[in-house]
Amino acid sequence: MIKNLSELPLFRFPPSKDKSLKAWNAADEYLLYHLEEAHIPIKNILIVNDQFGALTTSLIAYSPCYWTDSFLAETAISDNLYRLQSDGHINAELIEKVTTIKPQYQIQPNNDVIENQQVELASQPFDLVVMRIPKHNSLLELQLTQLKKWISPDAKIIAGGMNKEVHNSTLDCFEKIIGTTKTSLSRKKARLVFSTNQDDTSHTIKANRYTYAPYNLKISSLPGVFSANKLDIGTRVLLNYLPENIANKKCIDLGCGNGIIGAVIAKQSTDNHVLLTDESALAIESARINFLHNKLNNGEFIQTHSLSGIEDRSFDYVFCNPPFHQNNTQTLSIASAMFKDAAHVLNQNGEFWVVANRHLPYYKMLQQHFNQVDTISSDPKFVVRVARRPKT
Ligand SMILES: C[S@@+](CC[C@H](N)C(=O)[O-])C[C@H]1O[C@@H](n2cnc3c(N)ncnc32)[C@H](O)[C@@H]1O
Repeated sequence: MIKNLSELPLFRFPPSKDKSLKAWNAADEYLLYHLEEAHIPIKNILIVNDQFGALTTSLIAYSPCYWTDSFLAETAISDNLYRLQSDGHINAELIEKVTTIKPQYQIQPNNDVIENQQVELASQPFDLVVMRIPKHNSLLELQLTQLKKWISPDAKIIAGGMNKEVHNSTLDCFEKIIGTTKTSLSRKKARLVFSTNQDDTSHTIKANRYTYAPYNLKISSLPGVFSANKLDIGTRVLLNYLPENIANKKCIDLGCGNGIIGAVIAKQSTDNHVLLTDESALAIESARINFLHNKLNNGEFIQTHSLSGIEDRSFDYVFCNPPFHQNNTQTLSIASAMFKDAAHVLNQNGEFWVVANRHLPYYKMLQQHFNQVDTISSDPKFVVRVARRPKT
């Protein structure tokens, strides 16, 4: 019933020019191998943090439900399911039985993170959770605390990660929140974590918070969001060089994280309209919360890949501190998509402001999409550039 990964032609999203990057890894293989070898009974199964659909497609016979924070993962899962259907690997009825779950959170004045509205589960509580261990322990903590509400009293959680992603602190997290936890031997540099739901204790998740003094902005972040407990050094450099008199403009904070850049622009003038985009649901929620808590009413928030779905030539400014990782893999594909999209959504007088580590080859990449690229500041670590006159 479990489909063999080597027989499933799966693709990454966004596609990468680096053909050595696959849409699954040894941790996915180990999870599926273990389910099969150990004859784990599968009834109500939840898949967490599937990266490109390897787990969801292989386990499709069990009508899985999946939960991911990532728009990129969600797109990859859905694209791969429909591609496999048109290739005849999966039948359409099975795809219709795959469900997804999208909890939302808010941050209380005492910094407690609480679920906005409890998610109604279509099926019974889950008795098996198969998960990929997320990059940040803070996100793992939130996810395990959430899972506790969704799983049956004797549910099993089987989590997989590459050896370098599984630390003592990871195991402590499972032990503290779920119950007795063991690990497997290493196989192709991947390991599994087995945790059995045991105690009834409930855990409180705290948001991180800092103040950006120049604009008196109180910035909070939900778990897993970039640079949650302090302003990123690169972002600080960009903010130091931003024009201070932007008014009555349409602006974008691209890859907004907690929305700090967008909040500064929104605060400069209430006449600015600021669109904030990110692929992470928790980032978008954090940005929305920060606008609300700082009484900024001129923001709009979209969870998407780069600027997908945004109208061409409709903005005056785009600001960005681009990512150079997807999950744990370094990549230029996302920055590259962002530069291309920024050139499309800017009007002819528009400006694209970017900060980056100086070793990254962004100057050339920007020149592919803009006629003019100026360096505004350059220190041993970071470069701030402004790209103008989009080539579209
Ligand atoms: C370097 S962080 C910058 C965050 C924020 N702007 C700041 O300066 O603190 C990059 C952000 O890009 C987001 N991101 C990654 N891939 C993305 C994509 N394909 N589309 C949109 N946002 C993405 C990440 O979730 C992260 O929040």
